[in-house]
Amino acid sequence: MIDHELLRRRAQELLPDDVFGYFDGGSGAEVTLAREARAWDDVLLEPRVLRDVSGATVATSLLGQPVASPVLVAPMAAQRLAHPSGEVGVAVAARDSGSLMVLSMRSSTRVEDVGQVGPFWQQLYVLQDRGVTDEVVERATAAGALALVVTVDTPVVAGKRVGLPSALPPLGIVPALDRRVVTDERLQQARDVGPRDLERLAETSGLPVVAKGVLSPAAARDCVAAGASAVVVSTHGGRQLDGVVPTPLALPAVADAVGGEVEVYVDGGVRTGSHVLKALALGAQAVLVGRPVLWALATGGPDGVRVLLDDLTAQALEALVLSGCRSCADVGPDLVHASRR
Ligand SMILES: Cc1cc2nc3c(=O)[nH]c(=O)nc-3n(C[C@H](O)[C@H](O)[C@H](O)COP(=O)(O)O)c2cc1C
Repeated sequence: MIDHELLRRRAQELLPDDVFGYFDGGSGAEVTLAREARAWDDVLLEPRVLRDVSGATVATSLLGQPVASPVLVAPMAAQRLAHPSGEVGVAVAARDSGSLMVLSMRSSTRVEDVGQVGPFWQQLYVLQDRGVTDEVVERATAAGALALVVTVDTPVVAGKRVGLPSALPPLGIVPALDRRVVTDERLQQARDVGPRDLERLAETSGLPVVAKGVLSPAAARDCVAAGASAVVVSTHGGRQLDGVVPTPLALPAVADAVGGEVEVYVDGGVRTGSHVLKALALGAQAVLVGRPVLWALATGGPDGVRVLLDDLTAQALEALVLSGCRSCADVGPDLVHASRR
């Protein structure tokens, strides 16, 4: 079982201070970041017994795509800051471990280079210039994207802790624009993203749209009404509005509200197989893992990321078996102690 804190400390030793600070930090006073790190541990389980768990598997399917486990790679910007292989290295690892990578729109690698490796989902910010957003969608679709993950919690990028005075290169490279960067105001996130944007992206791409960054039943219902095929319960890893509810606390009500109609995923502080099991028990079909992927990439390159993903899958299977379940679909709210059900 990989010790994520050890991995993080090794990455800290290897990475320049400003890069580590950018990856590690949260927004504001980091209240949400700190709470989310503990919140999964606070959910307690009650396993079933006397169940036949032979042949148990965590393999599942998400939006019709088969995956080896419900552990996906969260979209994260600028992965070449962690390792020269960047997003391509992560894509190779995700493919080899049977997972799925969500490629950030603020990637440091061209979408075509990632598409050549294997299937992926494309994350999008709706930019002030909708034409540029459409250009990214066209290129991602042509490169083989299977879904669009539209981040809905970022009308503006929240201020974050930084390390020492920053020597970071400009972060916002838009893959469809190759070398253009987001110092151009029109390439910043739009502040007027509305239901029509989700509807339009689903119509024009023909791909399922996943809305990332909901924390309430009302927000989830709005996204589903606008045509979302799935929602991600997410605080953006404690990197947008600080002080929002940690995701394990928000997930059950969102799953109750929309889980009958669409798939529900969750991220933020998911670090162990037990956390994955808890996410499924609270109503999610999958989890996304963020920072540990960057630590594994920085310390071990693509192999390091594959080992991390395989380890999380093995841990998730062990937790599933120990809880008396045979499949992800078998996991239910009865596994969660009444204090959190
Ligand atoms: C360095 C970094 C960059 C990120 N970039 C993006 C991004 O481009 N788009 C996005 O939707 N989320 C982005 N996120 C948020 C992640 O997708 C995810 O919600 C979060 O990291 C999950 O929490 P965890 O890191 O605790 O696993 C980023 C997170 C980090 C740490």
